Amino acid sequence: MYSLRGAEAPLFHGAACGGSDEGGYFGAKAPVFFIFYAALKRRSSTVLPAAGQTEAGISGLKPGFFYSLRGAEAPLFQGAACGGPDEGGHFGAKAPVFCTLYAALKRRSSMALPAACQILYVLSCANLPAMADVISSASIHEKHFLSDKVSQFTESVIREMTRRAMLYGAVNLAQGFPDFSAPAEIKAAARAAIDGDVNQYAITWGAKNLRNAIARQMGVWQGIAVDPEKEITVCCGSTEAMISTLLAVCNAGDEVVIFEPFYENYGPDSVLSGARPRFVKLRPPASENGEWTFDEKELRAAFDKHTKAIILNTPNNPTGKVFTRAELELIRDLCIEFDVLAITDEIYEHILYDGTEHISMASLEGMRERTVTINGMSKTYSVTGWRVGWAVAPEKITNAIRKVHDFLTVGAPAPLQEAGAAALGLPAEYYAKLAEGYRVRRDHLMPALESAGFKCFRPRGAYYVMTDISGFGFEDDVEFTKYLVKEIGVAAVPGSSFYRDARDGARQVRFAFCKKLETLDAAAEKLGKLRAR
Ligand SMILES: Cc1ncc(COP(=O)(O)O)c(C=O)c1O
Repeated sequence: MYSLRGAEAPLFHGAACGGSDEGGYFGAKAPVFFIFYAALKRRSSTVLPAAGQTEAGISGLKPGFFYSLRGAEAPLFQGAACGGPDEGGHFGAKAPVFCTLYAALKRRSSMALPAACQILYVLSCANLPAMADVISSASIHEKHFLSDKVSQFTESVIREMTRRAMLYGAVNLAQGFPDFSAPAEIKAAARAAIDGDVNQYAITWGAKNLRNAIARQMGVWQGIAVDPEKEITVCCGSTEAMISTLLAVCNAGDEVVIFEPFYENYGPDSVLSGARPRFVKLRPPASENGEWTFDEKELRAAFDKHTKAIILNTPNNPTGKVFTRAELELIRDLCIEFDVLAITDEIYEHILYDGTEHISMASLEGMRERTVTINGMSKTYSVTGWRVGWAVAPEKITNAIRKVHDFLTVGAPAPLQEAGAAALGLPAEYYAKLAEGYRVRRDHLMPALESAGFKCFRPRGAYYVMTDISGFGFEDDVEFTKYLVKEIGVAAVPGSSFYRDARDGARQVRFAFCKKLETLDAAAEKLGKLRAR
């Protein structure tokens, strides 16, 4: 859903001119509703009557009438997309959009349903359940076989870019997986486990050897004491650890605070667990060597009595930000004040540059009992396809995570868990070499990007570089990345897939540099052909 908004924005203009494809038409209107939502959140008095108008419009619906309005409203929609000055008239004018949509629902247009779900999502965020009910009642009479939840998000844009890279034979700097070999020792450990017949289900919440190794290393790396019997759940990747955790702790209506730009899974994860995301902006560095920062007041304003958890990702994908102790302490204080859990995704823990230090939230005073620490093998040991990750949490929360995990996946691959125990036993030099290898790659790719015309935000951790594409004169990030993969031969991820509102990422594109130097060289050569429009 998040990504579609970006991708659909240009269609919106086409639709306003009278597109023939109804699916595109309604999908394309998503940006209108986000403008509407933004205004509602500002509690603009001129907007609220418009909401009322909409409701009245829906209940007194005459389908034919509203179809005809589509044409008449076209210029207003265009104004909306550009952000017109008169908010009152602006939103008042949009009431018919809802009605048009409702009419399509009545005609059982399957293409319109995803758009309807987007609207429902927006309305529920805006605390207008009455309106949401009115609209949802339009669809309950028909069976469309899909859950409302699944209609609220799209497939991963990151993984779609990998498919496009394959289609056009492009260099793939989109998805974060290494194109070089995994360490020989751990591959040998996996083979030995298979040969040794570790081929049946492991204990549901994780093989004992791996849990012991995780507990030991959390003590070594972060000084955190963990009980491997009661506080660890091994999952199918940290992806599963995150969704199992959210399903274990969230009730419908709970709110989850998420910094944006965010790793795209967190959006759908929140939807699937029934939680309502509250986004807080990370702002790009103002200077070349600056850091991504957040506004303390904005963060505080995102916490209230409905807040169940904050999702933190440090080192961060996509920005490369590594949260400082002072920032973590500020978040800690809010978690304690509002009685909130911290769910912290630390899978880039060992990939750090420029002397930056990774601090685990659970190591802060007062946080051990309210933190779920998520980590995994994918990034640290270059085995993204093995699907081994874990969640470390206090016993009571672990029991809940284990229940969800058991019924979702039963367990992670048993022989690969044994190899994981061996991997966690690698000496300190392994981790130093890993970070240094990525530092070299970062410093290889960034100059190539800069000489091609990108403005780079220097990452302090993880293996991505976020860039600004303003200099190229493209309409937006989606148009740019489509051009880049097809015409230049380099796949990257459009920035909008990391934001709730596509417009916030319209000038940003992310590159992954977890690749061989020759792969980065091949990309650099192709990027040399890129010209501003
Ligand atoms: C922040 C973050 N969390 C989780 C994942 C997925 O990890 P896993 O392979 O352990 O599921 C990624 C992968 O790119 C990521 O960037």
